[in-house]
Amino acid sequence: MRVLSGIQPTGALHIGNYLGMMRPMLSYMDRSELFVFIVNLHALTSVHDGPKLSTGTLEAAADFLALGLDPDRCIFWVQSDVPEVVELAWILTCITPMGLLERCHSYKDKIARGLSPNHGLFAYPVLMAADILLYQSHVVPVGKDQKQHLEVTRDIAFKFNSTFGETFVIPEAEISDEVATVPGTDGQKMSKSYDNTIEIFLDEKTLKKKVMGIVTDSTPVDQPKDPETCNLFQIYRHFAPPDRVADLQRLYVEGGAAYGTIKKELVGILWDYFRESRDERERLINDPGHIRALLAKGAQKARDIAKGTIDTVRRRTGLIY
Ligand code: ADP
Ligand code: TRP
Repeated sequence: MRVLSGIQPTGALHIGNYLGMMRPMLSYMDRSELFVFIVNLHALTSVHDGPKLSTGTLEAAADFLALGLDPDRCIFWVQSDVPEVVELAWILTCITPMGLLERCHSYKDKIARGLSPNHGLFAYPVLMAADILLYQSHVVPVGKDQKQHLEVTRDIAFKFNSTFGETFVIPEAEISDEVATVPGTDGQKMSKSYDNTIEIFLDEKTLKKKVMGIVTDSTPVDQPKDPETCNLFQIYRHFAPPDRVADLQRLYVEGGAAYGTIKKELVGILWDYFRESRDERERLINDPGHIRALLAKGAQKARDIAKGTIDTVRRRTGLIY
């Protein structure tokens, strides 16, 4: 089984990305053929600053590697290093109904937030479909916000297969219910667009400031509280040891949970949880040549597979004459 997922190199990785996408993906490393890539072409829809994008790409690679991605047990590369994906995106664009893209929430949300839409933003899901279909992926672990993009991918794959003959595997999204939407410090979905993130690789002082800033209600300490609706608990439960989570859950229900104390504990828990990765990331960032070499090797492997698919696609669509 082939599992594939990508992440944009736009901004520091936060615990929503980690729980929603990275951790589930890492768990596939020994169970399947894992494909992981950094989607710098998608990032171009919003980042128009060359040095920022190239630095962001190396940093994203360092993040993945530091968090445990082993390039010997998966294929790990940068999207633009396999140019066949752009060719496939164009071919798919030509069979994608406008209405399918017009209905996409992420596009509509960005417009609603006042972003002036470029064509890349509109066509974003088609490039994503090309990413997934080029490698004949079976499973795509993503956060809940990407569910619709996976539906679009499936629609496009069905359309291609019925128009030109069976070519693509129809992929399935894998969305872990448990972490479908990790809340941010303000209780909305954690997202860099909402300025409510807790990044994984922060200095201790900033981490403390962010955790202490998690919005909680004003229920007095001794009163019962609902852990399910508390942002603090919803973050805590993913990182604390299970027995601590059970203790705290009891305290919420029975009364006695003090938000300030829990926040202080959470700072320590997060700091320790990512300690090894933080040290490893520091080493990697200081050796960009090593990161580039790993990515080049990964791109070579990805491209060999991509070439097989694109060759079939060219033949089926009549581009080979
Ligand atoms: P952001 O919303 O901060 O811009 P991205 O859109 O780059 O994050 O998301 C990268 C990956 O992380 C996607 O698979 C996405 O579904 C997942 N993800 C992002 N935020 C969350 C969250 N709050 N909860 C769960 N998964 C998330
Ligand atoms: N759209 C995804 C996001 O913003 C990133 C992405 C691009 C992706 N291509 C993909 C995810 C292919 C999974 C598979 O998070």
